Amino acid sequence: MTALLEARGLSRSFGHVRALDGADFDVQPGEIVGLIGDNGAGKSTLIKAMSGNLDLDEGEIYFDGDRVRLSGPRHAEELGIEVVYQDLALAPHLNPVQNVFLGREISRKGLLGHLGFMDEKEMRRRAKESFAQLGATVNSLAAPVRSMSGGQRQGIAIARAMAWANKVLILDEPTAALGVVQTKNVLESVKRVRDKGIAVVFVSHSMPHVLDVCDRIQVLRLGRRVATFPGRETTVEELVGAMTGALDSREDVA
Ligand SMILES: Nc1ncnc2c1ncn2[C@@H]1O[C@H](COP(=O)(O)OP(=O)(O)OP(=O)(O)O)[C@@H](O)[C@H]1O
Ligand SMILES: [Mg+2]
Repeated sequence: MTALLEARGLSRSFGHVRALDGADFDVQPGEIVGLIGDNGAGKSTLIKAMSGNLDLDEGEIYFDGDRVRLSGPRHAEELGIEVVYQDLALAPHLNPVQNVFLGREISRKGLLGHLGFMDEKEMRRRAKESFAQLGATVNSLAAPVRSMSGGQRQGIAIARAMAWANKVLILDEPTAALGVVQTKNVLESVKRVRDKGIAVVFVSHSMPHVLDVCDRIQVLRLGRRVATFPGRETTVEELVGAMTGALDSREDVA
């Protein structure tokens, strides 16, 4: 089966730091792939490369079997790729509804060809529906998101990405700021998105969450994919071993 999104041999250095060093990655439609690795392994950099937010030194990206040169985030969005970045990237002065529709506002046609105006009511209705589906606790739809808690903001960013992703959904540590109930909701929602046939990339440091939702797990170490595991029947020990390199040395000994 052709991967929906695939990275081959991506390399990118920042000064002396080789953030990506020949990294490969692939995800199929209707599959959740976990992307794990230690702090600084290159996970966020890899995601930025696959969503048009990073210039590469080397490597190729394929979308549905065709090589693509992502010119920027809008290009990725046009292909149906949505990302929740680790730093969330919300507009702090806008309210949750405006953030969901930022750059994609719904307008109504004005009478007799006059300029249309924003359909605030429709945007509000749809944003509310997205938050409810996710179980996100957004207590005010009218207040700027800068006044909201880290967890509330994370909920808004995830709801936005889920509302727009129609091919690939990439989540960089989506549950890091969430409470127990919201985390459970997000994990369930991620599975629902997968069940619609969308390819999901799930970055997390929580091994139980990774083992709960992922169909496959790819391990990044020092900017390179070092292992791929099936989601089922893999243990936390195996994942940690691959992340830290402990498994390699065991193999050397054997
Ligand atoms: N814009 C940048 N400028 C300089 N160095 C960078 C930049 N972006 C990433 N790096 C470096 O590249 C390496 C990989 O960073 P990256 O953010 O991809 O790691 P990560 O796997 O996402 O880690 P974490 O789990 O902590 O989020 C790190 O050493 C980081 O300092
Ligand atoms: Mg990161």
